[in-house]
Amino acid sequence: MRIAVVGSGYVGLVTGACFADLGHEVVLVDNDEKKLAALRNGEVPIHEKFLPELLARHRGQRIKFSGDLQAATRESEAVFIAVGTPPTESGDADLSYVESVAREISGGVDGYKVVVEKSTVPVYTSQWIRTIIMRNGADPAQFDVTSNPEFLREGTAVTDFLYPDRIVVGVESEQAAEVMRQLYGPLTSGWYYGRGDAIPRPEAARVPPRLIITSTKSAELIKHASNAFLAMKISFINAVASICESVGANVQQVCDGVGTDSRIGPRFLNPGIGYGGSCFPKDLMAFRAVAKESGYDFRLLEEVTRINEEQRHRFLRKVRSVLWTFRGKRLGVLGLAFKGGTDDIRESPAVLLVQELLREGCHICAYDPAAMERAQEVLTSGVEFAADAYEAATGADALLILTEWEEFAALDLDRLRALVKYPIMLDGRNLYDPAVMVEHGFSYYSVGRPAALTDELTAGTRPNKREQA
Ligand code: UGA
Repeated sequence: MRIAVVGSGYVGLVTGACFADLGHEVVLVDNDEKKLAALRNGEVPIHEKFLPELLARHRGQRIKFSGDLQAATRESEAVFIAVGTPPTESGDADLSYVESVAREISGGVDGYKVVVEKSTVPVYTSQWIRTIIMRNGADPAQFDVTSNPEFLREGTAVTDFLYPDRIVVGVESEQAAEVMRQLYGPLTSGWYYGRGDAIPRPEAARVPPRLIITSTKSAELIKHASNAFLAMKISFINAVASICESVGANVQQVCDGVGTDSRIGPRFLNPGIGYGGSCFPKDLMAFRAVAKESGYDFRLLEEVTRINEEQRHRFLRKVRSVLWTFRGKRLGVLGLAFKGGTDDIRESPAVLLVQELLREGCHICAYDPAAMERAQEVLTSGVEFAADAYEAATGADALLILTEWEEFAALDLDRLRALVKYPIMLDGRNLYDPAVMVEHGFSYYSVGRPAALTDELTAGTRPNKREQA
């Protein structure tokens, strides 16, 4: 099928590249000429596994780039809207980009088209898109608006698209449902999974995925409700972690016991310094605003957000309780991205913590495998950027793990121990077994687990021999 994807951010690029891999002809539309030129040149603007391979495979063949949305609409059977919906001051989503795209699409509706909302949007958006397209002159019989929320996670977006738990499609007509079924047919029929050159299947993936057809309003709510529920799971376990700290229990053991109940499940129960990113914080605010507008005060979501922010402050207090004073202390920071596997620092709890530590007068030496370039734009003074984790640790009064990168869970602890000034690690992502850290000479503080101290009286206060010399 011929499709247009409007917006070449995370969602648009991944959606376009994956649909091309399923055999469709894709035009990626963006109004940023510089971005288009870079994409045509073979550049890949985001850090996303398998995306460079897919773009290289299909660029100039099944993927084309264009700045002309009307022309792209005319030559497509489906037009996906994947533009940004940033939060406004009051927390609800700013839909002005969606509206201007809908206006443009209107001029290209010259035969039956399905307009698909892919951006995360509040309930009623599809109705508004329909109204705007009609208001600008398109024949209502010539198009349908559907809602097809994405559930992609940054870092695994390509495999999330190709091996989804489910595909949700909200429609108001059978004709639109049929177009959507055909679009996803290569996945739902299992055809893609039998292909020799398919992107490798993640271990946990169950194929083929189920296509769930709903009303457009239900689909819109599914997206917000899913993200809100996942954020709630994280805040829930973070709250439990705080109780564990108070009573001396171990949150990892609690998670094991709770997560093995198949009704609850073990995923998204990892405690830490809170969730960040471009989705959860924004979507929770937007969902709350949607609920309020419909007459429901969804206070649970406010509490989820409050626990999330408190989690960061708790960690800061923990660092203070270990270091006593902050001014002039040198801290090695591992991780700046909002989570592992991405270069994205939007609403990153790691960056927010570093900013707080800088305000307190600490010197920071930070390392992140992918996010340093972006972090340099916001952390303009007081931070040194290291070439690797070991350089960040060198001479540190304490080492802080703030992002759950896999490589931070596999550090050479003896090497690290020899480089730091004091063997103190504060792990905001629970990447290590406390007993192992003590064996390697570290006093180790994590989230929701008892501190593991090398020596109860001189906990982490003894400098390295080299320093003493
Ligand atoms: C999230 C959802 O997981 C996707 O399903 C959704 O499509 C996407 O938002 C979106 O709305 O576009 P993403 O923001 O990429 O995806 O990242 P997640 O993997 O969900 O992680 C979000 C945050 O939660 C990160 O800061 C991560 O460190 C934190 N987290 C995650 C925890 O603290 N504990 C966990 O157990 C899991």
